[in-house]
Amino acid sequence: MPSQNRPEPHPKSFGENLESDLALEFLRVVEKAAIASARTMGQGDRPLSDKVATEMMRQVMDTIPMRGTIVIGEGERDEAPMLYIGEQVGGTFPDGRDVPSVDIAVDPLEGTNLCATGAPGAITVLAASEKGGLLHAPDCYMEKIVVGPSCKNAVELDAPVADNLRNIARRMHRGVDDLVVMVLDRPRHEKLISDIRKAGARIKLIGDGDLSAGIAAAVIGTGVHVVMGSGGAPEGVITAAAIRCLNGYMQGRLVINKPELEERIAKMGIKDKNRIYEAEDLAPGKQLIFAATGVTEGALLKGVRFFGEGERTSSVILTLKTGKVRFIESIHLDKGPDVKVRFA
Ligand code: FBP
Repeated sequence: MPSQNRPEPHPKSFGENLESDLALEFLRVVEKAAIASARTMGQGDRPLSDKVATEMMRQVMDTIPMRGTIVIGEGERDEAPMLYIGEQVGGTFPDGRDVPSVDIAVDPLEGTNLCATGAPGAITVLAASEKGGLLHAPDCYMEKIVVGPSCKNAVELDAPVADNLRNIARRMHRGVDDLVVMVLDRPRHEKLISDIRKAGARIKLIGDGDLSAGIAAAVIGTGVHVVMGSGGAPEGVITAAAIRCLNGYMQGRLVINKPELEERIAKMGIKDKNRIYEAEDLAPGKQLIFAATGVTEGALLKGVRFFGEGERTSSVILTLKTGKVRFIESIHLDKGPDVKVRFA
């Protein structure tokens, strides 16, 4: 019997094991983008917050030896100056060695409004996989339900809200009234919110950021048990990458309510617009990397802290095949040789 703990054979070339070779590289990307955007916190300038995060992500990505393709990004080529869908990113080795091909989904600043107003929950985030490992979701809404490992297969997108909550409560050995449901505070969720209230669960309404909410729901101890409602489909794909690494469970369905979206999904080869996707369908990669850094304080990650001589960041890096969940607290000593490091 092969031991689970036996080290894997050393890969022959860089990138053969994408996760081990690139996880810490992608950490640099989200950390740097978080520091850049956190500097704009509370300035009330959404475009600026997003711009600095995007520019920094792009800049750092070009220092990573890879042939990266942005499959989910800031928009189509004609609407986004960088990190647009289809853009090639990445650098080379000085000795010309081969570099791996990687598909990348980015949300340079998830929760732009949150950063611009200094509200909790903004993160910089990306997911990466081997080619074809992330669904190229169109920029539309997705109905979602996201839960943690103990609630695998216990919820269904089309089931009545009360039934889903009862099943979650049972799996989590508690009452429905102990559950906390995170929902984006939107008029479109009026009925959902009313159904949750009728069922007796508690609700945390969030202004933005259903991606970080989804990740929090898959981690015990964050005080979030389920995320319900519709949010961005691109965010849904990135959430799915994290959910697979965390053994959580989610279902999602694209909201195709315009002729141009019908055309877009037809081009993508999606035949059934009502299809319910699970995390494995949205992020089918054999190797997955998910990386996020807190910009403002959140349920799972602390925001960037500037201490005069440097910065402190809180990040999470998840990998699927290698089965690692890394919470990384970094101190960036970029202001010179005399910086003092504090323990916590
Ligand atoms: P940004 O990354 O553009 O700031 O999006 C934030 C967000 O709240 C997502 O978390 C969510 O999926 C989506 O926007 C919801 O869209 P809308 O604001 O149109 O309801």
